[in-house]
Amino acid sequence: MYWRTALVILAFLTHAITEMRVTGQTLDVCATCHPNATCEEKVDGTGKACNCMYGFVGNGRTYCQDKNECQIGANKICGQHTACHNTYGSFYCTCLAGYSPSNNMAIFIPNDGTRCQAIDCGQPPSALNAVQLSATGTHYGSVAKFGCSEGFFWKSGENSSVCGAESVWKGPSLVCEEITCGDPPMLPHTGQVWNGSTNPGSTVLFYCKEGFHREGGGNISYCTENGFWTKATLSCKEIMCGGPPILPHTGQVWNGSTNPGSTVLFYCKEGFHRERGGDISQCTKDGNWTKATLSCKAIDCGQPPLALNAVQLSATGTHYGSVAKFGCSEGFFWKSGENSSVCGAESVWKGPSLVCEATCGPAPALANTEVVLQNTSVVFHRCLEGFHSWRGRNTSVCDITGKWQAATMRCREIKPAISDLVVFNEKCLRWKADKYEEDTENYRVVFVGFRAYQRSFHDKRKKLLSSTSDHPEICLNLLPVTNYTISITALSARFTSTLTTNTSLQVPQAPEILYREIEAPLPTLWLRRSANTLDPISFYQVFVLPLEGTLVFDCSSLNTPDFSSQRKPHGQYITAQLHLRDIGNEINLTLGDGHYYGGFYNAPLQNGRDYYIILRAVSQWGGAFKHSCVIWAKVRDISYIMKVSSLFAGGSIGVFALAIFLGHCYTWFCKKT
Ligand SMILES: *[C@@H]1O[C@H](CO)[C@@H](O)[C@H](O)[C@H]1NC(C)=O
Ligand SMILES: *[C@@H]1O[C@H](CO)[C@@H](O)[C@H](O)[C@H]1NC(C)=O
Ligand SMILES: *[C@@H]1O[C@H](CO)[C@@H](O)[C@H](O)[C@H]1NC(C)=O
Ligand SMILES: *[C@@H]1O[C@H](CO)[C@@H](O)[C@H](O)[C@H]1NC(C)=O
Ligand SMILES: *[C@@H]1O[C@H](CO)[C@@H](O)[C@H](O)[C@H]1NC(C)=O
Ligand SMILES: *[C@@H]1O[C@H](CO)[C@@H](O)[C@H](O)[C@H]1NC(C)=O
Ligand SMILES: *[C@@H]1O[C@H](CO)[C@@H](O)[C@H](O)[C@H]1NC(C)=O
Ligand SMILES: *[C@@H]1O[C@H](CO)[C@@H](O)[C@H](O)[C@H]1NC(C)=O
Ligand SMILES: *[C@@H]1O[C@H](CO)[C@@H](O)[C@H](O)[C@H]1NC(C)=O
Ligand SMILES: *[C@@H]1O[C@H](CO)[C@@H](O)[C@H](O)[C@H]1NC(C)=O
Ligand SMILES: *[C@@H]1O[C@H](CO)[C@@H](O)[C@H](O)[C@H]1NC(C)=O
Ligand SMILES: *[C@@H]1O[C@H](CO)[C@@H](O)[C@H](O)[C@H]1NC(C)=O
Repeated sequence: MYWRTALVILAFLTHAITEMRVTGQTLDVCATCHPNATCEEKVDGTGKACNCMYGFVGNGRTYCQDKNECQIGANKICGQHTACHNTYGSFYCTCLAGYSPSNNMAIFIPNDGTRCQAIDCGQPPSALNAVQLSATGTHYGSVAKFGCSEGFFWKSGENSSVCGAESVWKGPSLVCEEITCGDPPMLPHTGQVWNGSTNPGSTVLFYCKEGFHREGGGNISYCTENGFWTKATLSCKEIMCGGPPILPHTGQVWNGSTNPGSTVLFYCKEGFHRERGGDISQCTKDGNWTKATLSCKAIDCGQPPLALNAVQLSATGTHYGSVAKFGCSEGFFWKSGENSSVCGAESVWKGPSLVCEATCGPAPALANTEVVLQNTSVVFHRCLEGFHSWRGRNTSVCDITGKWQAATMRCREIKPAISDLVVFNEKCLRWKADKYEEDTENYRVVFVGFRAYQRSFHDKRKKLLSSTSDHPEICLNLLPVTNYTISITALSARFTSTLTTNTSLQVPQAPEILYREIEAPLPTLWLRRSANTLDPISFYQVFVLPLEGTLVFDCSSLNTPDFSSQRKPHGQYITAQLHLRDIGNEINLTLGDGHYYGGFYNAPLQNGRDYYIILRAVSQWGGAFKHSCVIWAKVRDISYIMKVSSLFAGGSIGVFALAIFLGHCYTWFCKKT
């Protein structure tokens, strides 16, 4: 179709030339172009020109009009079995009915290679669950008719199919549905035996659900040809056990359900206790309660118990809830606890818990005590002022028999640990000890002695003593003529008692002498002694006793005759007095040497006379006077023996005896015949 293209170009050229002619070179050509025209360079390069766009014809400036291409006839422009369709500014081609374009598009344009052909739809399509009833052929416009298969029914859509322009069958759109009865009917309290088929001829078997039983009616339903289930009439009724059984003296724990599986728990009512049997009943599937065998018996607590020292006052019985009342027996009082007892659910009495205590009466009397605190069961005692107790319980307790268990304390007068301290036998001490019973007390005895006549004297000693005695005694080796201060301390009591005492003067010890019988005018006598602490108050006296007539010498005489006062020839006198503090241990005394000794004149002895020389040892202090005598010597004249013989023979002068006890006896005595 080249000629048609050329025609368009020709039209275009004509348009361009026209424009040139009108506008010339001087105008702005583009500004004058028609809306449906374009401004373009001229082909020969002589300026611009307005050209109508494709599909339009006109001068490009004032006029661009659609061109009807189809004017020349569809057969000529589009081809055989075609139709030409003009559009504004263009056109297109379509195939006539019964023909189809080879480009398989609805439209085409000439010379694009498209051809047309006769339509044949082939065999009509099949539809689901439908059968083809008839068909008029397979060419364009043929009609095929369909119907639903057996067991199906038409529900919607076209029953026929038509061969269309596109060489395909249009339709059928019929929808065939299976004939069903739907879900089987529901019956109350039933279950179903059903294979799920809803087709005619299917069956459903109904049965009663658990807990229900068949009361009547048919139990089968059929699916009929017209899609309905036949009516089932099964009637089911709930299984109920009704009220549970009643057991005597029991209560029930039951939620009120009478359905199978429900349970009832039986229990014994208050005041009863389980004797035997099962206590559960269950509703069975056949609607009966299983048998409960619980057997309950009335509670009986028996006789109420007794409380110690109490008596029962009353009781309302022995059954459950009974109350028994108690009170304390005579001689007892209520102290604590419940007075009553109650018969409880366990068939035992609860209580009584009362505690009865004995009344012991007035507190026991204890010597030297007073009562500090007292209640009905306990008394506290305390020693009276001035008394104390070492040991023992200070409480008296009232025991369950109503007797006081008296306190064991004993109160004793408070005394010093040492009292009544006395000296006996000069050197021994005795005192009264205040201590607890058999306890041992340890004593320390310190004694210090001094003497007024002997400054240097100091006798300090200590002695220890243990004693359990109430009257301990101790003897001390005290020195004579000494003032002693003696302190006794009771060590555990820390008590000290002190006394002073003095020791007595004792008979002085006579010195060692050598008894001699001498016939010399100046006899020398010897003595030896040992030093003694009493030396300061002791002295020796030498007596000269002329042996003539009756001779009496009293050693104890305080009369101290000296020679000058005894001038009589027969008189006895002291010829020497020797203070022991002044002399040594050994002395030679020459009688009659004419010297003074201790203020006494040692007078010469007379010739023709016999003498006894007596030595008296004297200790003297503060008015006390102790002495002892010894015959030291006998001094005689030549005629002495005869005289004595005649004395004893004639007996005219008398017999004398001389007795000297070196310690204590001081008496000479002569007895006249
Ligand atoms: C130009 O062409 C269009 C269609 O393509 C048309 O609708 C329009 O009216 C035309 N304009 C004029 C001024 O003719
Ligand atoms: C199709 O056929 C059924 C009977 O077979 C008829 O009831 C129905 O109306 C038909 N449907 C149409 C659209 O013709
Ligand atoms: C259901 O049972 C019916 C008869 O009642 C029978 O015809 C059908 O085939 C069964 N369908 C199935 C799915 O078993
Ligand atoms: C249905 O009913 C029949 C007759 O009444 C009976 O014999 C059959 O046992 C019942 N079936 C069921 C499942 O109840
Ligand atoms: C009663 O108790 C049973 C079990 O013993 C239970 O199955 C049932 O649901 C209960 N009913 C009610 C009303 O609580
Ligand atoms: C249930 O109780 C009824 C009457 O109370 C009685 O007739 C029946 O036999 C009982 N069933 C069983 C299984 O005990
Ligand atoms: C018990 O009885 C006594 C008198 O006998 C009374 O004082 C006491 O309060 C009673 N106790 C109780 C717990 O009742
Ligand atoms: C008496 O006193 C003692 C000691 O204080 C005490 O233990 C006891 O309980 C008292 N008794 C009474 C009956 O008050
Ligand atoms: C009783 O003795 C105890 C010690 O044994 C003492 O503590 C208490 O104070 C004494 N009571 C009285 C009242 O003396
Ligand atoms: C003992 O003491 C008294 C009084 O102080 C005194 O007179 C006496 O001489 C003393 N005796 C001795 C032996 O010291
Ligand atoms: C010595 O003690 C006694 C009493 O024991 C007393 O009579 C005498 O005066 C005392 N003598 C001296 C010298 O103290
Ligand atoms: C005493 O006399 C004897 C014998 O003649 C003599 O041995 C002695 O030394 C004398 N003693 C004194 C103290 O003179």
